[in-house]
Amino acid sequence: MRVDIVTCLPRLLESPFGDSILKRAQDKGLIEIHIHDLRAFSDDKHKKVDDYAYGGGAGMVLMAQPLATCIKSLQKERSYEEVIFMTPDGNLFNQSMANEISLFNNILLICGHYKGIDQRIRDKYITREISIGEYVLSGGELAGAVVVDAVARLIPGVLSDETSALTDSYQDGLLAPPVYTRPADFEGMEVPKILLSGNQKEIDEWRFQQSINLTKKRRPDSFEDQS
Ligand code: ADE
Repeated sequence: MRVDIVTCLPRLLESPFGDSILKRAQDKGLIEIHIHDLRAFSDDKHKKVDDYAYGGGAGMVLMAQPLATCIKSLQKERSYEEVIFMTPDGNLFNQSMANEISLFNNILLICGHYKGIDQRIRDKYITREISIGEYVLSGGELAGAVVVDAVARLIPGVLSDETSALTDSYQDGLLAPPVYTRPADFEGMEVPKILLSGNQKEIDEWRFQQSINLTKKRRPDSFEDQS
């Protein structure tokens, strides 16, 4: 999978993709992440990418020209299954959206900033708008990194134990059960006996029951949706 990300703050994205699982996935050639500095596409002699909003009001708006030039030049190189705009008013991101996106070959992700981007870019070029939650971040970069991380770990080979993505919270609609590691007794708190029993069938049943209880308690609505 190839991900192209357009941002006016490219340095913000260096560290999320430069470490751990995402770094290894790129080193192994399982995902290519290309970051494009929006300023490089500005026709303005000062490389300006934002301007005041028509109609007044606080906050700057990312201008149409640099975004359109950038999107068009990337689309000349390859076709994208989706051109995604990260925005707090987009559709709420969830695991099933991550699963769907993980099957694509090429995605283009646009990070907004300030008050957003000129609406005409949304109307003409954007095919999907994603929000990572009902709060407003300073820009779309961190939100974009969240989407790329959630998607990348679903690509076969990215996780060393491939089954571990399948046991993530949400992957089967249930929250993951609690986990424990050594020691078996920590500050007087003991690991549930069943986990030390060696009886895998009973351990699986216990974990499943814990998942159900946790989902009913923490996500009652999503539990109702499934049953
Ligand atoms: N940009 C700013 N806030 C955002 C959010 N919650 N989701 C996606 N992009 C954003």
